[in-house]
Amino acid sequence: MMIDSTTKLYGLLGYPVAGSRSPWIHNHVFKTCGIPAVYLAFPVEPEVLESAVTGLKALGIRGVNVTIPYKSSIIPMLEKVDPMAKALGAVNTLLWEEGSWVGYNTDGTGLLSVLKSHIPTLEHQRVLILGAGGAARGICGALIQGGIRSLGVWNRTPDKAELLVQDIRPLTAENQGITPVIGEGDFKDFDLVINTTSVGMEPETDAVPARVSSFKAGAVVCDIVYKPHQTRFLQEVAAEGHPVIHGIEMLIEQALLAQKLWNNLDDEILASIRSALVAEFEALNK
Ligand code: ATR
Repeated sequence: MMIDSTTKLYGLLGYPVAGSRSPWIHNHVFKTCGIPAVYLAFPVEPEVLESAVTGLKALGIRGVNVTIPYKSSIIPMLEKVDPMAKALGAVNTLLWEEGSWVGYNTDGTGLLSVLKSHIPTLEHQRVLILGAGGAARGICGALIQGGIRSLGVWNRTPDKAELLVQDIRPLTAENQGITPVIGEGDFKDFDLVINTTSVGMEPETDAVPARVSSFKAGAVVCDIVYKPHQTRFLQEVAAEGHPVIHGIEMLIEQALLAQKLWNNLDDEILASIRSALVAEFEALNK
């Protein structure tokens, strides 16, 4: 695609951003849909985040993604925040709408949409969350909003799981439960397991977040780590016969939902881009 004076700029604000796959996804979308735009990753140091946001307005940029470590700290710099993003306390997508920045969270909706595509009866699921960090908080909030039956939170440091449960409990509906999980013996009570820690990510690809043999037979297991594609954790659970959901699916979904906000793409186009991206990623990461 020719870059000329009409080309629009989209981008990613984070620190660091060098390993991000977002430019790959978004530039693929622009190319496939013939949208005259490019997407770049901007490593923004914490001291200049506010001036970067002001600069985006001055330059007339229409859409950006926000990643670690700014998903929460950028919120006070925005004019409006969508209710789901507000409830999660984190944004990952900004849209310039009628003269103001509006913050959205497509990580939560992306995760729900991927889970629903694998598990049609999501509302009956008892879900075990491994980890209690920032990623775990966003995922727990999204699952509660998505109407799942109950959540158990296990963490290497149990106190942090307790704290997360206390913070999320007020968001639960009357028929939803959330409890800390202390012993691995209780893992068998859950139908769906989600690793929200970065354990197993490159370069420490030999590590696993928890003992695999303790899960309920047939429980679906999902890993947010996407580098490598086949984490050791997913390899081990697959060998035990568990159906698995790869981290790349969630990464692609949050990006496509951001594109839907920015460029109003219809579901048919998004479905064909989704399959092309997954196939390309799998071919590159065999
Ligand atoms: P993020 O925002 O990516 O979630 P974080 O807030 O630093 O990052 O949280 C990291 C999570 O990964 C925590 O749940 C952490 O467990 P602790 O609270 O015990 O530190 C978990 N984690 C990191 N390294 C781990 C390891 N080697 N084994 C098990 N859990 C680990």
